[in-house]
Amino acid sequence: MHTLSNQPDTLYASIKTTPVPFEFNAQVADVFDNMIQRSIPGYNLLLEITGLITAQYAQAGSNAYDLGCSLGAASLKIRRNLPDDSHLVGVDNSAAMVRRWRQNMARDQGQASIEIRQQNIQDTIIDNASVVVMNFTLQFIADHQRIDLLRRILAGLRPGGVLLLAEKICFTDAERQALMMQLHHSFKKSQGYSDLEISQKRVALEQVLIPNTETQHRQRLLAAGFSRVERCLQCLNFVTFLGIKS
Ligand SMILES: C[S@@+](CC[C@H](N)C(=O)[O-])C[C@H]1O[C@@H](n2cnc3c(N)ncnc32)[C@H](O)[C@@H]1O
Repeated sequence: MHTLSNQPDTLYASIKTTPVPFEFNAQVADVFDNMIQRSIPGYNLLLEITGLITAQYAQAGSNAYDLGCSLGAASLKIRRNLPDDSHLVGVDNSAAMVRRWRQNMARDQGQASIEIRQQNIQDTIIDNASVVVMNFTLQFIADHQRIDLLRRILAGLRPGGVLLLAEKICFTDAERQALMMQLHHSFKKSQGYSDLEISQKRVALEQVLIPNTETQHRQRLLAAGFSRVERCLQCLNFVTFLGIKS
């Protein structure tokens, strides 16, 4: 298991009288490594898969992108699996995340050159790419703008290039939705979060993180022009898709 910081996440441990929408600010960045590992079942496995996919699809002399790169956990896996003549671009619009990405990547000995862009992923130029990773970030983009972003990613990929897309999903079947939410709640409790922490975080995320169904994701990826879409990982209500450009 990787560790980018040791600070435990207690951000929602005390009662919040006025709920504030979730933001990727400095307090979140300080505890984010701990938060994401305790909140997303299968997160460490996804990082391993990110490395495998990179090794399989990265092309010599191409660019790789980590969109919504946060502290750089996926960026590190990508870099370690890129050909030496590649270039890795991390993109995140949170200043606190970008600062920590720089620190974490500076400790890495990888050969591929690196660059961090503090900007909206919807504005970033994607070109000559063979691997694009966007883990748990599309869900924060306005729903009606998601297709345009996927089209821009596809346009920036070389033939044979891939998008690895991980997202929290929801279900149209009410029973399945309730079961998955309950199991996710149990997962977070097993990671040491209290009922209060879980419910306060859920309220904070409600208006900010808008999940789609698996069908919506598949249809959108195909509509954006990906010729093949494979589900390569699912843990409860968290799914990872591999979109391949022919
Ligand atoms: C859930 S985190 C991603 C986790 C990360 N991919 C990982 O695997 O560790 C979402 C990240 O996306 C960034 N983000 C959200 N919306 C963004 C946008 N429109 N443009 C750039 N970054 C964005 C946030 O600042 C945050 O760091």
